[in-house]
Amino acid sequence: MTYQAQNLLVTGGAGFIGTNFVHYWLKKYPNTSMTVLDALTYAGRRENLDNLQGQSNFRFIQGDILDQALVENLLREHNIETIVHFAAESHVDRSIYGPDAFLRTNIEGTHNLLKAAKKIWLDEKTDDRHRFHHVSTDEVYGTLEQGDPAFSETTPYAPNSPYAASKAASDHIVRAYQHTYGLNTTTSNCSNNYGPYQYPEKLIPLAISNLTQGKAVPVYGDGQQIRDWLYVDDHNRGIDLIIRNGRIGETYNIGGNNEQTNLNLIHILCDLLDHRLPDSPHVPHRQWITYVTDRPGHDRRYAIDNRKICHELGYGPAETFASGLEKTVEWYLTHTEFWQAGNIHLFGSYPS
Ligand SMILES: NC(=O)c1ccc[n+]([C@@H]2O[C@H](COP(=O)([O-])OP(=O)(O)OC[C@H]3O[C@@H](n4cnc5c(N)ncnc54)[C@H](O)[C@@H]3O)[C@@H](O)[C@H]2O)c1
Repeated sequence: MTYQAQNLLVTGGAGFIGTNFVHYWLKKYPNTSMTVLDALTYAGRRENLDNLQGQSNFRFIQGDILDQALVENLLREHNIETIVHFAAESHVDRSIYGPDAFLRTNIEGTHNLLKAAKKIWLDEKTDDRHRFHHVSTDEVYGTLEQGDPAFSETTPYAPNSPYAASKAASDHIVRAYQHTYGLNTTTSNCSNNYGPYQYPEKLIPLAISNLTQGKAVPVYGDGQQIRDWLYVDDHNRGIDLIIRNGRIGETYNIGGNNEQTNLNLIHILCDLLDHRLPDSPHVPHRQWITYVTDRPGHDRRYAIDNRKICHELGYGPAETFASGLEKTVEWYLTHTEFWQAGNIHLFGSYPS
């Protein structure tokens, strides 16, 4: 039977995917109620949700998922029965130079949320009508060689960066809370997302902002690393399907069957900008491509086998890579205030 989420707690809702999810969800389900909990780290932007301020079914709370008392109070006060958990430290480069925050937020923070959910939903209320959806990544599976089969839900975990290891640990804890305590959990492992509101340290927004300003776009190593790119609202539609119809305790891979080398992706962006801005002094944009030393331990290839979510839940991406990238470029060109804000702190240049 389809699960009806009514009162949601969305963690990390002021970050890239969280922001898109909040907009997607409230547009599609305007009669539901949503509380966003976000610590507003460097990656979170309160302004992303400004247009929802004043809406009676929406509230924003600035706070940390590590704050157990706060999370418990929110669950009780707003009768929350559905948690959609995006909050995380998410940038691989940052995890290489400072893993501590990743272990704290991604592992301990996820555990805190699970503890609070168990306490309120199982120990205090014994209410079976609840969901905890955990948003995770394909990076938990490690790396692929050319010709290897894509990651499926049964691929063994082999995380290679502190970021991926912290997400892998959080996936295991979610699984354990389902098996041990009977919490109604689901998990999704998604490939690389792109779209509006992505922090400009990640590859696509960084490339668009640098290219349009005539600045170098760094390409790690030979640029032949392969990622499976998915438009962010295609991720969100997958999460929506899982929350409503996914089987409890299951994990679902979400991906777009869209493998691209980093270099090819940058070439496409350069050509799109040449076309969109023919009078720019920075044309041809490919002149700004600059090769830099590769990231340590850089995974070579990710690819997602999305057959489970397609067959079980009728999933399929709505955007092609061409249509999604065009929308994305258009958004960054018309929202320059997003990436020109004075408080942007760049760190590395690559997708997580
Ligand atoms: N970006 C991708 O391509 C991708 C792909 C697959 C999965 N994911 C997963 O999706 C989720 C969201 O990713 P994103 O790219 O939107 O990340 P992001 O870095 O853009 O946003 C993370 C958000 O979490 C908030 N946050 C961080 N620590 C917090 C804490 N302790 N308490 C409360 N809030 C906190 C930040 O302020 C920010 O708003 C992450 O769990 C990530 O692992 C991302």
